[in-house]
Amino acid sequence: MTVLTDRWNVNPRHFWLRGEKPEQPVAFDPALGIWNVYGYPEAVAVLGDPKTFSSDTTRLVAADLDPSLNDGVLFQMDPPAHRKLRNLVSHAFSPKIVAGLEPRISGLTAELLDEAAERGRLELVGDLAYPLPVIVIAELLGVPASDRDLFKGWVDRLFESTHQFSMAEEPQGLETHLEITKAMTGYLREHAVERRRRPREDLLSELVLAEVDGERLNDNQIVNFANILLMAGHITTTMLLGNTVLCLDAHPEWFAAVRADRSVLPAALEETLRYFSPFTAAARSTTAATELAGHTVPADQMIMVWVAAANRDGRQFPDPDVFDPSRDPNPHLGFGRGVHFCLGAPLARIEARIALEVLLERHPVLRTDPGDPPSFVPAPDMSGVERLPLLTS
Ligand code: HEM
Repeated sequence: MTVLTDRWNVNPRHFWLRGEKPEQPVAFDPALGIWNVYGYPEAVAVLGDPKTFSSDTTRLVAADLDPSLNDGVLFQMDPPAHRKLRNLVSHAFSPKIVAGLEPRISGLTAELLDEAAERGRLELVGDLAYPLPVIVIAELLGVPASDRDLFKGWVDRLFESTHQFSMAEEPQGLETHLEITKAMTGYLREHAVERRRRPREDLLSELVLAEVDGERLNDNQIVNFANILLMAGHITTTMLLGNTVLCLDAHPEWFAAVRADRSVLPAALEETLRYFSPFTAAARSTTAATELAGHTVPADQMIMVWVAAANRDGRQFPDPDVFDPSRDPNPHLGFGRGVHFCLGAPLARIEARIALEVLLERHPVLRTDPGDPPSFVPAPDMSGVERLPLLTS
């Protein structure tokens, strides 16, 4: 047990949150037909070798998938095609460009907190942590932020359709998944078509005008790529914000340290990414037989790299179950590692830092409500608060 799990009912499948250790760093699950990688050095080895551990997992789970649905999905691509597409958009998320968004992020945070104050209660996720990143990514892309209830409906349904990873049975919820993906890409397609006619100053227009090796991206690549930004751009950042507040609430000495000196905040965010990682697992597929932690893993196997569990590996982190923002360095895998390292990391870091600065400034008292406890996202590949009511007095 840890302070956090002592107090709250976190997702019971996320054993690392309770300080439990896997029996082995790599283990095959015969019931699900999946290799689970829990250890830190093993996770680093897998994420660092895209040739053997391909990100294209659809060939194993949905070989007959309509290829147009996967074209341009960056996190399913391998080098060299991956590098070309990533280069096209990486500048839009560079620390320098993202720093330019600071005033907008703090203005939006203030507006959202004003609205919450009018309602007379603060539920951190619904009032701030969810809308803020969605509005920011929608504005970057150039789709109306006012459609965010539509995005939320899709994303909530996607979560509901993800229960368990398994190679042993028909993938659960695949049909719902496809149906929602089609709805989202259909929506984005309309906006992309509009940008072809009338480009503006937004990321969607940039994608429409961009060229890879002298060729324009096709419509499928544009909408699929925009779609993953819209998705990746909000769920995880929402949880980073909520999980950080929960970690600070459970560790009052650190809450006081952050209040006394805001420059401690970035380290508290990094430690939350390690200790209560919002993104739990990255999927890979083996392209050839390989050795991993003394196991021979055949070709065409599904691998789940549990970065959240690896972040609690005592071989890498002393006292791994202690929340300690003073760790330096803190080489957590919360944003992944290697060629697929999170493209949005600079944006997520800045959004979370500014939102928390404004929140702490506004509310000298901020504490969880034992009478109205937080609830947690039930999906296996995401870990964090889904609802976080806070008392402000
Ligand atoms: C990739 C986590 C926020 C866009 C990843 C990966 C992780 C991750 C672990 C690697 C996946 C893999 O190796 O298969 C997170 C966390 C976030 C966050 C914890 C917030 C706290 C964002 C934001 C955006 C974003 C705000 C965009 C606006 C992406 C994209 C990729 C990615 C496009 C794929 C990169 C590639 O395949 O080259 N993220 N992410 N993420 N993330 Fe994030």
